[in-house]
Amino acid sequence: MTEFDPAVPSTPEPTSQAFGIDIGGTGIKGALVDISTGKLVTERVRVPTPNPSTPEAVGKVVAQLVTQAGWSGLVGATFPAVIQHGVAKSAANVDRSWIGTDVDAEFTASTGNRVIVLNDADAAGIAEARFGAAKGVEGVVILLTFGTGIGSAVLVDGKLVPNTELGHLEIGGHDAESRAAASVRDREGLSYKKWAKRVQEYMSHVEYLFSPDLFVVGGGVSKDSEKWVPLLDLNAPVRPAQLLNDAGIVGAAMAAAERLGE
Ligand code: BGC
Repeated sequence: MTEFDPAVPSTPEPTSQAFGIDIGGTGIKGALVDISTGKLVTERVRVPTPNPSTPEAVGKVVAQLVTQAGWSGLVGATFPAVIQHGVAKSAANVDRSWIGTDVDAEFTASTGNRVIVLNDADAAGIAEARFGAAKGVEGVVILLTFGTGIGSAVLVDGKLVPNTELGHLEIGGHDAESRAAASVRDREGLSYKKWAKRVQEYMSHVEYLFSPDLFVVGGGVSKDSEKWVPLLDLNAPVRPAQLLNDAGIVGAAMAAAERLGE
């Protein structure tokens, strides 16, 4: 990842490219995406997430990324919450002031570009279904992202059922993500083996409810997938996500392009 290079061409064909932004708890990343190939057209640029991460402060960073890239056109952004018709409806791991915020409108105003916002795991699901681990898979695919929380994307024949929030299933009296998110592994210093037991318990429950044809597991821990995915025992195959760090950016750009008609 590098700083913005002004020599990189920008503002081409607005129909074939969109700027994707991935908003996370520690960093906000953005790049221009070719939506027909899913490839990044510019270098990925990362800015630390402001603290407190209020809508206004995050809106400024989003605008900064778009301006730095010299982009004017469609923008897609992920957000780690339920996003219904552009409005944030939950705030599990973000500032509570987001609830009720029209995030589409906030970022559209801060950037001066049309911005479409969607849930972060949903964006990753769209990207993996189109270009990654779930490409061409029919039936029910469930992507789970293990990070600060647990995000989920449910796809049926490649089409997303948005805002599923399976990370908040209650298991044994606990919010599932409070026991099986990757951040819990770090916080409690769990080995992959110990943590995988919790993931197993969680994913068997999801499997019992949905009988998916395929699970895709993503989030930062997907880069270490060989340490824990083989320990899982489920009926459906489990594939690590393929787009790793780029899934959110790519999925956000694609969702924006699809929503507003390519
Ligand atoms: C949030 C989801 C989000 C997930 C991953 C959960 O706590 O409720 O909306 O997708 O974390 O960031």
